[in-house]
Amino acid sequence: MLHLLGAVALVAIVSTSPEVAAFPLSLSSFAASANRLVARADAVYSPPVYPTPETRATGDWTVAVNKAKAELSTWTLAERAALATGDLWQPPGLCVGNVKPIASTGFPGLCLQDAPVGVRVADLVSAFPSGVNVAATFDRTLMFSRGLAMGNEFKGKGVNIALGPGMNPARTAEGGRNWEGFGADPYLQGEAAYQTITGMQASGVQATAKHFIGNEEEHLRIESSSNIDDRTLHEIYLHPFLRSVQANVANVMTAYNQINGSWAAQNSKLNNGILKGELGFSGTVMSDWAGARSGLASALGGLDMNMPGVPNWLTFDGTSYWGVDNLLKMVSNGSMPESRVTDMATRILSSWYLLGQDVDFPATNFNGWDLTDEATNQHVNVQDDHYKLIRQMGSSATVLLKNTNNALPLKNPKSLLVIGDDAFPSSKNGDPNFYTYRGGNDGTLAVGWGSGANDFPYLVDPLSAIIARSASLKTNVTSSRNNFDLAAAGALAGGKDAALVFINSNSGEAVSIVDGNDGDRNNISAWGGGDQLVLAVAAKNKNTIVIVHSVGVMDTELWIDHPNVTAVVWAGLPGQESGNSCADVLFGDVNPSGRLPYTIAKDQSHYVHATPLSNTESHPQVTYSEKLNVDYRHFAANNLKPRFPFGFGLSYTKFSYSGLSIKTLSLTSAQTTDLHAPKYTVNFTVQNCGSVSGEDVPQLYLTFPSSASEPPRVLRGFTKVSLAAGKSVSVSLALSTYDLSIWDVVKQKWVKPSGTFKVVVATDALAAASLSGSI
Ligand SMILES: *[C@@H]1O[C@H](CO)[C@@H](O)[C@H](O)[C@H]1NC(C)=O
Ligand SMILES: *[C@@H]1O[C@H](CO)[C@@H](O)[C@H](O)[C@H]1NC(C)=O
Ligand SMILES: *[C@@H]1O[C@H](CO)[C@@H](O)[C@H](O)[C@H]1NC(C)=O
Ligand SMILES: *[C@@H]1O[C@H](CO)[C@@H](O)[C@H](O)[C@H]1NC(C)=O
Ligand SMILES: *[C@@H]1O[C@H](CO)[C@@H](O)[C@H](O)[C@H]1NC(C)=O
Ligand SMILES: *[C@@H]1O[C@H](CO)[C@@H](O)[C@H](O)[C@H]1NC(C)=O
Repeated sequence: MLHLLGAVALVAIVSTSPEVAAFPLSLSSFAASANRLVARADAVYSPPVYPTPETRATGDWTVAVNKAKAELSTWTLAERAALATGDLWQPPGLCVGNVKPIASTGFPGLCLQDAPVGVRVADLVSAFPSGVNVAATFDRTLMFSRGLAMGNEFKGKGVNIALGPGMNPARTAEGGRNWEGFGADPYLQGEAAYQTITGMQASGVQATAKHFIGNEEEHLRIESSSNIDDRTLHEIYLHPFLRSVQANVANVMTAYNQINGSWAAQNSKLNNGILKGELGFSGTVMSDWAGARSGLASALGGLDMNMPGVPNWLTFDGTSYWGVDNLLKMVSNGSMPESRVTDMATRILSSWYLLGQDVDFPATNFNGWDLTDEATNQHVNVQDDHYKLIRQMGSSATVLLKNTNNALPLKNPKSLLVIGDDAFPSSKNGDPNFYTYRGGNDGTLAVGWGSGANDFPYLVDPLSAIIARSASLKTNVTSSRNNFDLAAAGALAGGKDAALVFINSNSGEAVSIVDGNDGDRNNISAWGGGDQLVLAVAAKNKNTIVIVHSVGVMDTELWIDHPNVTAVVWAGLPGQESGNSCADVLFGDVNPSGRLPYTIAKDQSHYVHATPLSNTESHPQVTYSEKLNVDYRHFAANNLKPRFPFGFGLSYTKFSYSGLSIKTLSLTSAQTTDLHAPKYTVNFTVQNCGSVSGEDVPQLYLTFPSSASEPPRVLRGFTKVSLAAGKSVSVSLALSTYDLSIWDVVKQKWVKPSGTFKVVVATDALAAASLSGSI
């Protein structure tokens, strides 16, 4: 039952943990297994941190934790234990995860449901833009609004806990779930996570920050170990979770993988030491589905809720590592203190009280197991007018990468070719599981596949939207869905005022293999012969405009410099209003203001790649040897020139920056001890010096003193400003001591290196400074 490297991690309890005396039996059995295995000198190691800190009534959690403690003081141990395990992934629970009602206490139970883009397996819900598009907006207001709108839909359906947002920083180019998260920079991930969670929880629904931690690829995710050094963990991967805790996130979901050889759901260093200890997380640590690999070790290692309760994906015989029986046995045989069970329950109930779910929370009114069962489905329409926000976010996230001689916006074209399967509706529309477990790449791509997707109420395809928008212009729109008849494509392209070529690249969770892609992509080129289609059209049309729907980075080298490719529009995964968002940008109704949330390389060797499926180790060791040099940091550190850097995006107008001033604020003593209090303000003016109104995203990067050994530039601020032609606005960005600190692995705390920090305001991560100053 114990796995080799997990056992190595556990043996250390014997030698160093002060809790040894309390659990002699279980520890000696761990030790017996582990002694045989410990010999590997190079074995990765995760230090033991026990016991799990109990949740405390502090800050915004004070009232909720006190209520939970008072309520639980009247419950039996068995009643408390009943909160901690899911209903074993089966009806009559209605949701993807369910905590059963506890009749003797009056507790109504909990419904947990995917997904990070809206309610999954439910009807009359909206399909929101994916996380990668949320990041591309660089717009905190929209991030918050989307969180709130999604939260309202979950609540309207009677979902207590929404299983998102995801926030893994896209370490590998092919990572199947990269699109669920908010791009490749931890600061951007953190801001998007903070706003999403704050918005979602403002609706009264509990959010879930996931996956904690190091789930950066889908290949072999169940068996592999992400080996991450302490500084890299803190500065890159932990930051979005820190921001989530600051947003009072109610739940954190652990990853499937190991970290340093210890499964995420039982990694005591991470769950007890870092999450509940260092970050002071007050809520519930939940496993990913069947992600708990043990009973006792997970319970002691800081897991509070085992979901959906089954021991693994092959066992549905009613057994569980947890359940009331096992948790009680762990207590009665002396392996676990009763206080651990009480703390699990306190955390779960505190989250429930924090969101006010004890008062008038709607009962679950849909059945994710069977949407056709009229007895359990009330078909509550929760869509409201969210389509407006979805359409706006779609265009706000659209990144204009190339625009030679103002090819865009389109100016009353007489004739247009719209070509590519990606411009068309899916032939599988209406298939209820199509988007979540996408049976094939078919029609326009508006979301990736897996549990991070939801079912679309409808999907506006680009062709229909373009025909509708151009009707009043009397444009003759010709279209073709055929990606592979290149001669026909060229013939259609000839003579048109513009040829719009729609291509895409898809990926998803390792629950389905699509066109041979097992979650992670096999390559980062266009799917469906997209590159050859672009070349065939560009050979015959001097105004070829490429529109890309992609889950993440995609190689553009085959055609990006082609003189006839005049414009490139990066549309990401926009959700249900996809076509309208796209037409808004193409025809100039909206000025594009998205910025790339990752770097597009010229040379694929500049990326970190996913572990090949051909790896045959029983536990593939995935060492994060690039350390802090993730995405643009790697390019900056090694003087590599990418095709398009992180933060890049064009506009139909132009902006200029001026008047940088930096001020150190005088702080009160309370503020001085708060690492996160604003300490410096960085002010400057942004002017729209073009002829149309538009939105800009000024970005603040820091260069640390060289003694800090940081990458040359790190993002520490951004904002989105909207400006009419000729107008200007002053921008003020704040920096805290934390923003200027590095994680000192010896002192085990954040330390501001001494020396001069360079403050750079720039249009992307690698662009020359538009303004610079120093601190
Ligand atoms: C993983 O191991 C590295 C040393 O190789 C150490 O710096 C880090 O703290 C460990 N992290 C965890 C979570 O065990
Ligand atoms: C105590 O009970 C738990 C749960 O059944 C079990 O995993 C553990 O091995 C038991 N320990 C001992 C020493 O019996
Ligand atoms: C539109 O273009 C197609 C081919 O490109 C042509 O056959 C058709 O006659 C045109 N229609 C109009 C109304 O001009
Ligand atoms: C990349 O993968 C896609 C999807 O499986 C496939 O259609 C395409 O042909 C592949 N491209 C290359 C260059 O291998
Ligand atoms: C660009 O398109 C024109 C047709 O308008 C064609 O004659 C020319 O060969 C194309 N250029 C390239 C480099 O393919
Ligand atoms: C920047 O602007 C803010 C808000 O307008 C102001 O409080 C601050 O003093 C300004 N800082 C500088 C350096 O001018």
